[in-house]
Amino acid sequence: MKIVVTGGAGFIGSHFIRYLLKKYPDCQILNIDRLTYAGNIHNLDDVSSDRRYCFVQEDICHQKEMTTLLRDWDILVNFAAETHVDRSLVNPEAFIRTDVLGVFSLLRSAYQCKLRKFIQISTDEVYGSVSQGRLKETRLLSPSNPYAASKAAADLLALSYWKSYGLPVCIVRSTNNFGPFQHPEKMIPLFITNALLNKKLPVYGEGKQIRQWLFVEDHCGAIDLILQKGENGQVYHVSPERGYRNLTVARKILRLLGKPDSLMEFVKDRAGHDYRYSLNCQKIKALGWKPRHSFNSAFAKTVQWYKENTGWWQPIREGDFQEYYRQQYG
Ligand code: NAD
Ligand code: TYD
Repeated sequence: MKIVVTGGAGFIGSHFIRYLLKKYPDCQILNIDRLTYAGNIHNLDDVSSDRRYCFVQEDICHQKEMTTLLRDWDILVNFAAETHVDRSLVNPEAFIRTDVLGVFSLLRSAYQCKLRKFIQISTDEVYGSVSQGRLKETRLLSPSNPYAASKAAADLLALSYWKSYGLPVCIVRSTNNFGPFQHPEKMIPLFITNALLNKKLPVYGEGKQIRQWLFVEDHCGAIDLILQKGENGQVYHVSPERGYRNLTVARKILRLLGKPDSLMEFVKDRAGHDYRYSLNCQKIKALGWKPRHSFNSAFAKTVQWYKENTGWWQPIREGDFQEYYRQQYG
């Protein structure tokens, strides 16, 4: 299997590369990543000398370069994106550039290079807030913020490349992921690292919003299954059984670290904040997928990982993150 992973130096992409190297002795992997503030090549230190793996620093928006790089490869899985909702509210341009125009560039290159599979990693956010029940893949898209809108646009473009040109595309829409190596601007690692530093946990609004937290390795298993068995032109949801309120997640973190609830601080709510995401994943279950990790044990392991790997997250928090955090919370 010759597979290009774009955005492989980020959170989920780096787990997916490690997953492939472990599972497929004969795979060859090319990781293409621009290394934005969110990309961290150290996420892959443990596999960087593996002969089956190579890395090129490049921007997916550079179509000519992408076409040159994709030549002679079979499969592309695209994780590259601007991914943080709060940043999209202050700098939407970056999201339109990478999440829309970058995907357009990749689709054109993939078509020219006749790739045999193009997997676009999407998100539950494309549907907007879900008042009740669990959404199926056929639900109308109704994104609430520029990040979600840019991902929705990319999904539609990718599907159009299947319908118009026969490019073999599948879309994977998962719920919120958690696990090691997630950038500490996202809620779970932000709350864990703040708690470790005895700083306040900034809970937006009343903290009642609900997310279905998926352990990142279960997401990787699902992407692999879709790679093997997914039908072209189809969208697949990936989600765990139940959702948790943000407040519950914050309390779990404080309990696991032996910190008081008084570390929680209720701050101004996010603009256009989606109250609840909830996906039905019967379609991928019918292909044979189920989560292998229980939420509680994967969550406890994740908290422990951040506790033991301060050397990974401290330099990130001391970099550009410091300024970002100051702008957000003063
Ligand atoms: P991340 O922010 O950790 O990583 C994104 C990676 O993309 C980084 O390595 C960055 O350097 C790279 N990148 C950004 N712009 C690029 C460009 N123009 N060219 C090349 N590389 C570029 O993101 P993540 O959390 O790992 O998410 C990966 C994908 O999964 C995204 O498409 C996201 O929308 C989707 N997703 C994420 C979650 C989640 O909870 N994290 C949930 C559902 C879907
Ligand atoms: P986030 O990790 O940004 O993911 P998403 O917006 O894609 O769901 O946020 C998860 C939830 O946590 C979301 O409801 C917003 C909330 N949140 C906070 O309450 N405080 C924070 O500092 C952050 C970053 C998020």
